[in-house]
Amino acid sequence: MKVSSIPSLRSKLLATLSAFVIAGAMQLTPHSTAEDAGNLYNTAVDIRMGERYFERQCSRCHGFDATGNDEAGGPNLTGRLRNASTDVGIFNVIRNGVQGTAMLPVAPDVPDATVWQLVAYIDSLRYDPSSVVLDGDADRGASLFTGKGDCTSCHMVNGAGGRMGPDLSRIGEDNTPEDLLIAMTNPHEEVAPRWWTVRVTGPDGEQREGFRMGEDSFALRIMDQDENLWSFRKSQVQNYQRVEASTMPSYEGELSDSELDDLVAYLFSLRREVLSQ
Ligand code: HEC
Ligand code: HEC
Repeated sequence: MKVSSIPSLRSKLLATLSAFVIAGAMQLTPHSTAEDAGNLYNTAVDIRMGERYFERQCSRCHGFDATGNDEAGGPNLTGRLRNASTDVGIFNVIRNGVQGTAMLPVAPDVPDATVWQLVAYIDSLRYDPSSVVLDGDADRGASLFTGKGDCTSCHMVNGAGGRMGPDLSRIGEDNTPEDLLIAMTNPHEEVAPRWWTVRVTGPDGEQREGFRMGEDSFALRIMDQDENLWSFRKSQVQNYQRVEASTMPSYEGELSDSELDDLVAYLFSLRREVLSQ
């Protein structure tokens, strides 16, 4: 008997078995599982179809122009969305609803294509810069960004700038002009945990503050304002404090209203692609 044939038989069996499992899993999900392949339904016609469907099925809660309806409780969909930051996220909210709220799933017989057209319509409310008229001038804003405003000391745009704040190369995509103004005038309002800082008093009694770069049971690493890395052994840390405020200064009063408008126009123009109409 040839012993060597046994493993190959076994691996063949495994291969068949896993092919079976994959086929089975695919059968369980008749609707597309919304992979991030991009929205294939985002032509001007799709957007128009999505809008029509929206007006019929969604506007009673979200308002005719999707800016929200306080009485019915449907939120404004033209700004940053709470439950979804990507097209796939929006798709899933519409397909599955938001559990425990009035936002019910669309009927199961509504085809995925229709849901994608709704996504395209909702995107167009935020992503289409040509439909938004801004007071500011994006070119002047770009000069302020790298010049007087010194935003590049912390922010990167298309590979140039600092690392002490988020990369803003695509910041216009999921923010309204109002969001962008608030980010500059009231930076503490919404700070993602990634940008919280910690204040650590080490064994030398010296206090250092910075972004948390790494932490395990024994050690903590932070990066301070000058991009120096500091490591602390936890057993030697005398004091440790989390600061949820932003390290970004407010530009309210620091820059004039028209300068802020120019920066908003510039930031709003920062996006990967502009929807072709
Ligand atoms: C009966 C009222 C109602 C109808 C009809 C309705 N919605 Fe909603 N929708 C809501 C509510 C309420 C929420 C907020 C849920 C929550 O609290 O997170 C919501 C949330 C959403 C969100 C997420 C918003 C966010 O900020 O994350 C999207 C997107 C959305 N709805 C799209 C639609 C679309 C598209 C339709 C039509 C197919 C629709 N809704 C129909 C009530 C409704
Ligand atoms: C000292 C560093 C620093 C400077 C200078 C700075 N920022 Fe920021 N900025 C940050 C940090 C950190 C965050 C993230 C925390 C927060 O949301 O405030 C941030 C957030 C932002 C956001 C929101 C980003 C998002 O993902 O929502 C915008 C927009 C922004 N900054 C624009 C600017 C502009 C425009 C300037 C110049 C006028 C500027 N920043 C100057 C550090 C800085």
